[in-house]
This record gives sequence, structure tokens and C-alpha cells, in this order.
Amino acid sequence: MSIAVCPGSFDPITLGHLDVIRRGSALVDEVVVAVATNAGKQPLLSLEERVDLARRAVADLPGVRVEAVGGLLVDYCRSIGASVLLKGLRNGADYDAELPMALMNRHLTGIETVFLPADRSAVHIASSLVKDVARHGGPIDDLVPEGVAEVVRARWAERAEQDGREAGRAHG
Ligand code: PNS
Repeated sequence: MSIAVCPGSFDPITLGHLDVIRRGSALVDEVVVAVATNAGKQPLLSLEERVDLARRAVADLPGVRVEAVGGLLVDYCRSIGASVLLKGLRNGADYDAELPMALMNRHLTGIETVFLPADRSAVHIASSLVKDVARHGGPIDDLVPEGVAEVVRARWAERAEQDGREAGRAHG
């Protein structure tokens, strides 16, 4: 049985991620979407929220499941017998960011990474941009799977309220 692990922060999952997961699932028996921690990023959504939104997004995709993964990704891959990592590439910047990780993961256990080119319709979709658009009140509903936009908006509203309270305390 061939298992691919599709890792990422998924903060939040986007239609771009979903497209890569769907196309990847046609190449192997099972795709495990691994919601992991990127040491260089401070997520907007909790791990539980990211996992829950990803689970809902892939619910109708056969052979796809979502797991929260702590520690080294390659250790998780080994523990479930995954033979390949799956990642989407939108552009050269993605390649520059992904190549060192792919090479490090291969160095660690020999696991290969398969890159799928992003669909043209998703080349501009990035979780970071989605969050920024939502933060400033812009529409993100057609960039993310159903149910995701509401959670992102709610998180930003909470943050704004929190910041307002802190600013009030600082001035008061
Ligand atoms: O969506 P992202 O933020 O680009 O995903 C990066 C992620 C989470 C896949 C990467 O940071 C990762 O693999 N983290 C788990 C810890 C690990 O194995 N680090 C070494 C990576 S070479």
C-alpha cells in the first residue's frame, strides 16, 4: 500500500492545498494530510482548528485522512509506513523554500518528496495572503473550503477585540 504524507501548517487550509491533496490522492493508495508545526511561523488558528477545518475539507475525498503531527515529520512518515512526501509548488519562491526541506527530509531517512505544480487557478492562493485579506475585511470565501472563512474572520475579530482591550488598559 503506497502512502503519501502531505505536510503543512494549514493555517488555514486553502483551495490550493485541497487541489494538491485531491490530485495527489490519485497517485497513491492513501494521502495523510499532516498538520504540523512550522517553527518559523506563529499560527492564527489553533492546531485543533487547523485539523478540524482540514478534516471537514477532505471529508468527501476517498483515501485521504488528516492527522496532527508533532516532532519530526520524517519520524511520523516512518511510523505509518509512508514512502513519499507530497507538496504543491506555485512558483520559484515555493521551490526555494521547499527544496531545503525536501533535501533535509531525504538526508534524514531517505524519504522522497514529490512536487505537484499548482493549478493555474490557485497560483495566487496562499494561507498568509488569505489571512491578510480577511484581517482587513476582504472577501476570502472563494479561496478556501466551505466553513473556513467564518473561522478565520472570527479569529481576527477576537484578536481585534483583545488588542482594543490591551490598548484601553495601556491608555487608561
Ligand atoms: O505549510 P508550511 O508552513 O510550509 O509547512 C512546513 C512544515 C510544517 C511542513 C515544516 O515546518 C515541518 O516539516 N515541520 C515539522 C518539523 C520537522 O520535521 N522539521 C524539519 C523539516 S526539514
